[in-house]
Amino acid sequence: MSETIMVAGGAGYIGSHMVHQLLKTGYDVVIVDNLSTGHRQAVNPQARFYEGDTRDIQFLKQVFAQEPIQAIIHMDAFSIVPESVGDPLKYFDNNVIGMIKLLEIMQQYDVKYLIFSSTAATFGQPQQSPITEQTPQQPINPYGVSKLMMEQMMHWVDQAYGIKSVALRYFNAAGALADGSIGEDHNPETHLIPIILKTAMGQQDTLKIYGNDYQTPDGTNVRDYVHVTDLAQAHILALKYLQAGNPSTAFNLGSNQGFSVQEIIQAARKVTQKAIPAEIAPRRGGDPDILIADSSRAKSILGWQPQYTDIQAIIKTAWTWKQKHPQGYQS
Ligand code: UFG
Repeated sequence: MSETIMVAGGAGYIGSHMVHQLLKTGYDVVIVDNLSTGHRQAVNPQARFYEGDTRDIQFLKQVFAQEPIQAIIHMDAFSIVPESVGDPLKYFDNNVIGMIKLLEIMQQYDVKYLIFSSTAATFGQPQQSPITEQTPQQPINPYGVSKLMMEQMMHWVDQAYGIKSVALRYFNAAGALADGSIGEDHNPETHLIPIILKTAMGQQDTLKIYGNDYQTPDGTNVRDYVHVTDLAQAHILALKYLQAGNPSTAFNLGSNQGFSVQEIIQAARKVTQKAIPAEIAPRRGGDPDILIADSSRAKSILGWQPQYTDIQAIIKTAWTWKQKHPQGYQS
């Protein structure tokens, strides 16, 4: 019988790709999502879906009483850097309390494995580039702080109750399933690539570049973009790693390449063959200059082999999704 995996946040952007990858690999999947940022249309019909909030322990008990869950993939945190700067309590409430309740239910139902969506934002303004797992974690925004707190909780529940976990620190998740059937749809959208593609579609006139006075070659922020299906695959490898009896740990997941905002716009112009007007705007707050991953540890220990190594190929998948769903899931 196939193993049952719960994906918290399985109706979200990364969650929906995770569910797809698990089903394709032969797992049985339970989705828990309160649809606050996820979409009912993104819920995979081959998974069993429970609509509810992970902060609600009674709701979680109902799910765990019915489902033989063997591991949890936790992807239901809020994740927008500028939003967290404006409303930190929203982030501490949803992210930190949600994690406490999930760990409580894992303890009660003796679920031993947790794979967690952590983030490059836990590193803050790193002194070192590329960023390794040894780079000190000193977040500079409430989102990054909330995720670091979640990582720290995971460490202590392993010590106390033997709940084994892997924190996967994503750099900038991007792209969509190659067939364009699922993809990124946030409301409001704050992420660079979807906003660029909105501009390419003529849904907004101009793209705002938030600051060109950062300590980078062209003055705009440098980020490391990693394809969402490559991220999903890393979770399956991380689960196998824990199930093989290995200790709890963390891995950085990126492409080991940095692109400035200007370079991403250029790449998108090539992919879309559209002009994509852009203008310089003030900084938006909470943005570190450069975030580039050293993912060699994930490659050597997990055997992770990202399939998307070219930024234009990543943007192309997001463009396919956008053309098929100009208004996101409402299309
Ligand atoms: N940007 C613009 N204009 C826009 C949107 C974004 O210039 O309209 C810039 C941002 O200032 C930033 C870069 O594009 O420099 C990337 O911004 P995103 O909002 O796409 O992504 P972030 O780097 O802020 O954050 C993302 C995820 C986080 C994750 C982080 C890891 O949202 O959850 O990547 O690097 F932690």
